[in-house]
Amino acid sequence: MAQIFTASADTRLRASLLAAAILIFLIVLFVGGYASSSYGTLVGWVQDQPVPFSHEHHVAGLGIDCRYCHTSVETSARAGLPATHICMSCHSQIWTGAAMLAPVRHSLADNVPLIWNRVSRLPDYVYFNHSIHVARGVPCVACHGRVDRMPLMTRAEPFQMQWCLDCHRNPAPNLRPPDQVTRMDWSDWDAHPERHKDFGAQVVKSYGIEPRKLIQCNICHR
Ligand code: HEC
Ligand code: HEC
Ligand code: HEC
Ligand code: HEC
Ligand code: HEC
Repeated sequence: MAQIFTASADTRLRASLLAAAILIFLIVLFVGGYASSSYGTLVGWVQDQPVPFSHEHHVAGLGIDCRYCHTSVETSARAGLPATHICMSCHSQIWTGAAMLAPVRHSLADNVPLIWNRVSRLPDYVYFNHSIHVARGVPCVACHGRVDRMPLMTRAEPFQMQWCLDCHRNPAPNLRPPDQVTRMDWSDWDAHPERHKDFGAQVVKSYGIEPRKLIQCNICHR
């Protein structure tokens, strides 16, 4: 029988198959690593902002409630970013000449809103709604982290599908009384984990929260 492949062609074929396999392996490793790395999820990254606004200073230092600035968080899908006049309710009296606040003064004078660069954002094909989470007592800190310790805002959680599903499968441990949602350090939460656990389970029951329904695709992809 005539030999179709020479011995060296066979070796080359094996070598290139091996190289292809290694390449595919590396691509899978890279893509997987990228998706869960901070480059992919943006966890911990700071965005450039027109004004270096400090949550640490305004929330922990001055004790201003989240809802003073994020006015629609209880009533609509979006939390809302503060309009210039909200900053000016204080900064027309405090730090009136500060260079750092010049963009805020210009925004008011020229009637052009400040453009804040978004830190936490989902793709358009995902539906999210703040008001339902707030109404059921899911605290801001569960999704946005210790905002009161952030001199500059960073993303605390990956905001990937798996992360949403982890809580939707078992929301009870994350629930607290709805009037406590904006508290960053809820002392009962830390001091009495066992009492808290019961509390969540009761809320799940009394609101009729059904984890089986909460993980269905059309809840978040409508
Ligand atoms: C309830 C009052 C109040 C509101 C509302 C407020 N600030 Fe302030 N802000 C202050 C006070 C008080 C200081 C600090 C002065 C100090 O202690 O040195 C401050 C300080 C600052 C500083 C200086 C840097 C820092 O954090 O120390 C910036 C910048 C600033 N605010 C931006 C803003 C912006 C932007 C808004 C609107 C989104 C805003 N503030 C809303 C009261 C307020
Ligand atoms: C004095 C006004 C003020 C208060 C009070 C305040 N914020 Fe903010 N918040 C802002 C401003 C201004 C921005 C946009 C600039 C930035 O990202 O730092 C912002 C941005 C954010 C963002 C990022 C949103 C995005 O996608 O870009 C989150 C999350 C947030 N705030 C949560 C909170 C929480 C939680 C609280 C209460 C614990 C709170 N904020 C209290 C003014 C405020
Ligand atoms: C269950 C998780 C979750 C909770 C609880 C939550 N957020 Fe958010 N927040 C998100 C997600 C996800 C986004 C991005 C939404 C998007 O891009 O469509 C977001 C976006 C924001 C933004 C950006 C602007 C906007 O209009 O949405 C602000 C500000 C904010 N959240 C503040 C708050 C505050 C204040 C609370 C507590 C009262 C809170 N969030 C509770 C998950 C949460
Ligand atoms: C820490 C817990 C927690 C996290 C994280 C969370 N959720 Fe929820 N989510 C809840 C709870 C509790 C409810 C209320 C369920 C109810 O009342 O039946 C809810 C309800 C919802 C609803 C409304 C369901 C309906 O019946 O209309 C949507 C939409 C939703 N979540 C989307 C998301 C998305 C998207 C994410 C991730 C970006 C997310 N959630 C992350 C706890 C969470
Ligand atoms: C609780 C909310 C939630 C539910 C329920 C949900 N998803 Fe998602 N899904 C998300 C979020 C958030 C993203 C965006 C992930 C990102 O940006 O990394 C996403 C992204 C996706 C993507 C884009 C690719 C990817 O994985 O990032 C697909 C496809 C998808 N979802 C399919 C589904 C299917 C099929 C179901 C039902 C079995 C489902 N989702 C249920 C929240 C949800």
